[in-house]
Parts: sequence; C-alpha cells; structure tokens
Amino acid sequence: MPDQRPIGLFDSGVGGLTVLRQVIRRLPQESTVYLGDNARTPYGTRPDEEVRRFSLECLDELAARDVKALVVACNTTSAVALGDARRRYQMPVLGVVRPGAAAAALATRSGRVGVIATPATVRSRAYSDAIADEDPAVVVLEHATPELVPLVEAGRLDGPEVEAIVSRSLAPLLAGAGEGEGTPREGDEGIDTLLLGCTHYPLLEPIIGRLAGPDVAVIDSATATASALAELLAVTDLLARQGHPARHLQLTTGETGAFERTAERLFGPGLL
Ligand code: DGL
Repeated sequence: MPDQRPIGLFDSGVGGLTVLRQVIRRLPQESTVYLGDNARTPYGTRPDEEVRRFSLECLDELAARDVKALVVACNTTSAVALGDARRRYQMPVLGVVRPGAAAAALATRSGRVGVIATPATVRSRAYSDAIADEDPAVVVLEHATPELVPLVEAGRLDGPEVEAIVSRSLAPLLAGAGEGEGTPREGDEGIDTLLLGCTHYPLLEPIIGRLAGPDVAVIDSATATASALAELLAVTDLLARQGHPARHLQLTTGETGAFERTAERLFGPGLL
C-alpha cells in the first residue's frame, strides 16, 4: 500500500539541500521534511561526541514528525553517527557515505579514488572503509578540505579567488602521487575518480570538474543517495502514490530569514 508520509532529511545546515534537490528530482511523488542545524553548523570541524549529540537531537525532532524514513544528508553525521541513528529509530535510516562510496568504486577504472570531505569525515575513515567493502583493491586517498564549506556558505561559487582556493584544496589529490592506503596499480599514478564527500561540494562542481580535468570522473554522494533512497523505499514498500502532489517543508534551528536567503542564493528561487 502506498505510504504518503514524508521522508525526513537532516543536515548540519543548508548544504544538505543538494541531497534534497536530488531526492525531489528522483522521487517527485515523495513529500519531505528537511531540518538544518544552522544554529550549530559547521559540524565538520567538531569532535565526534558533539557531532553525535547534535545530530541525534535533530534526528529525534524529525522522527517525532511521523516520517517514514530518515535520510542523513550530512556526510559528517553519516560518517560519525549513522550506527547510533540506526539503533535509535524504528524506521529505515539512510546515510550518504555508502551510496557515494558504491558509485565511486563502480566508476573507477584505474583503481585510485580521491575523496574530499570535512576533517571529521576524513578522521572517521568512513569513505575508505565503505569503498573497501565494495572493492578492497581500490586505493583511496582521503583529503580534508575545510576551506570549501565556508566558501559555499558565503555564496562564493565562482571567480578567480574561489578557483584559487579550490585548486589549493585539491592539489594533494590531483598532483598524482598520494599517501593513500594500499598499493597503487602499476602505471596508474593519479586518481581517475573524485568523490565529493561533503554536502556543499556539489555546488562547486563546475570548478572542481574543470580543475580535475576530463580524465577524472567527479561523483557526488547526493545523486547516489537519491537513487539508493528510491531503491530503499521500493524494497520496504514505502513509496508514495504516483501523481499525488508532494509537500516540502524546511526547518532550521537557526534564523529562518538567513536560511532562506542562503538557500536562495545557492539554489535559486526554485527549490524551496
Ligand atoms: N554537512 C557537512 C557534511 O556534509 C558539511 C558542513 C559542516 O561541516 O557542517 O559533512
């Protein structure tokens, strides 16, 4: 039987709207409730204990709203606290790490994948572990790029200065020789796949793609997660009826005006 209840999506702030955008594209019949913890963003530079506590507080709020599934759109929370969330709620809880990792493991031909993410996500090694689960032969080079979230939050998505910062952030991965784990396959020095392991990075994708060049596939976890969600809802018999108008509600722990302004600056007037 179709299930008309909304899907709950959580992020540390506005970045998770990249995931919401893909979910709406992929599953137009589904209603959503999005909660951004803008009052306490960013999470990526916080200790794990804080990420866990803040995330579960927000997820409790969503779970109390009669949602049928939870999507942890925040990579940092997915990396640090997904297990806690899964044990806590009586509903499917989907993170962004596994779907992104699976897509990257499938995409690579050379067997060398770069991952850029927040310091907390990189510290957790969640992406390395998830990619190793998919294909233990893949060499994963994880690199923290803390300068990128503040750029996106400030609405700075292009221009020479932004390009210089992104270029500096990516340099250790795009230089070829890295200190990833495992043994590089002979003849394959550089990465051929770059996984954007942070909600905000898809908004910098035009610059990242340009800098990475045509030989590097840029994969974002947001798109992969929307596909994984579609599959999850289908196998758990939780899909909404086709053709019914969906409703989308966005909530923030911060100031609503600021949330709306940032969201509109980043995504244009169409999303919310
Ligand atoms: N949402 C976070 C993530 O995807 C990025 C922003 C933050 O550090 O809170 O890791």
